[in-house]
Amino acid sequence: MTSPFLRVLAGEAVWPPPVWLMRQAGRYLPEYRAVRASTAGFVDLCLTPAKAAEVTLQPIRRFGFDAAILFSDILMLPYALGQGLTFVEGEGPMLPPIRDSAGFAVLDPAQVESRIAPILETVRLVRESLGPETALIGFAGSPWTVASYMVEGQGSRDFAEVRGLAYRDSALFDALIATVTDSTITYLARQIEAGADAVMLFDSWAGVLPPAQFRRYVIEPTRVIAAALRERFPATPVIGFPRLAGAMLAEYAAVTGVQAVGVDTAADPVQVARMVPHGTALQGNIDPLAVVAGGAAMADAAQAVLDAWKGRPFVVNLGHGIVPHTPPDHVGALVRQLRDA
Ligand code: CP3
Repeated sequence: MTSPFLRVLAGEAVWPPPVWLMRQAGRYLPEYRAVRASTAGFVDLCLTPAKAAEVTLQPIRRFGFDAAILFSDILMLPYALGQGLTFVEGEGPMLPPIRDSAGFAVLDPAQVESRIAPILETVRLVRESLGPETALIGFAGSPWTVASYMVEGQGSRDFAEVRGLAYRDSALFDALIATVTDSTITYLARQIEAGADAVMLFDSWAGVLPPAQFRRYVIEPTRVIAAALRERFPATPVIGFPRLAGAMLAEYAAVTGVQAVGVDTAADPVQVARMVPHGTALQGNIDPLAVVAGGAAMADAAQAVLDAWKGRPFVVNLGHGIVPHTPPDHVGALVRQLRDA
C-alpha cells in the first residue's frame, strides 16, 4: 500500500503522519472562487462532475495533501431523497422542513441512485487523476446530523425542532433515521465502487444529544452503516467524526466499528489518546483559527497533536473545517512543518 493515509487507517503508526484538512477545497482558495463563480450555485457545482473534480484536486496540487476529499456536501443526500435543497448566498442551506408524516412522505429513496449519478462520476474522474500515493475520501453526513437539517430546514442554534420531534413522535423520527441510514449505506457503497478508498461520516451535531439519545441516534446508526460497508467492502476503512462527543467518544469508538475517529477542536488530544485504544486510528484536531493566526500559534497547535499521538496510528487534520478567511500560505507552512516532523 503506497498511501500513507491508508496505511494509518489499516493500523500502522506512520511517521511523519499523513495530513489532509476538512474543507480543504473551498472559499479560502482563489482558484476555488474562480470555478465557483462560473456555476449557477453551490448545488450546481456539486452536480457538475468536471468542475467538482477540478475543485477536489486544487488543494492536492497546491499543498500535496495525502488525501483528497470528494467535493460535494452532506446535504446532497436529502437532495437525492427528493427534499428540495438550495443554498442561499451568505446564509447557508435551506430545505423545506420535515415536521410530520406528510413531510416525511415526500422522501423517495428510489430516486437516490439516479440523483447521485453525477457525484459518482466526480469520484471516478478524481480517482483517475490521482497517483497511488494520494487517497480519495468519499463521505456522507451521519444520519443524526443529516436528519437535523432535514427537520430544522436550515442551520440551528438549539436544535429545538429536531430534538422536539424525537421526543414528540419518536416513531416518525426513528423512521426518518432509518431512511437516511439505508440511503447512506447505498450512497457510500456506490462511492466506494466508483473509486473512493475510504469513507467518512460527518456528525457535526453529535454533541448536542444526551447520552441515551447519543446511543440511539449517533452510535447505533453509525454502527449499522459501518457493519454494512464492512461486509461488502472489508478493505475500505470508515472514519467517524462525532463532533463535540466529549466523554461519549470512548463508547463511540468502541461500539461503532469505525477504523478511525475524527477528533474535534474542543477535545484534549492527550485525553483522547487515553480514551481511545490504539486499534482505532485518530484524526485531528488542530484549531482552524490557529491556522488563520499562523506563526507560533499554529506551529504550537500542530506540535501538540504530534506530541500527544506519536507512536500510534494517526492522521493530522483540523478539529473542524477550514474557515474562509484562512490565508493559503499558512496552510502551506503547516504542511511543511508536518513533513519535517
Ligand atoms: O473540502 C471538503 O471538505 C469537501 C467538501 C465538503 C463541503 N461540505 C463543501 C462545502 C464537505 C465534506 C462538507 C461537509 C458538510 N456540509 C458538513 C459537515 C462538516 C462540518 O462543517 O460540520 C456540514 C454541516 C455541511 C452543511 C453545509 N454546507 C453548510 C452549513 C454550509 C454553509 C456554510 C458555509 O460554509 O457556507 C455548506 C456549504 C459548503 N459546503 C461550502 C463548501 C465548500 C461553501 C459553499 C460555497 O462555495 O458557497
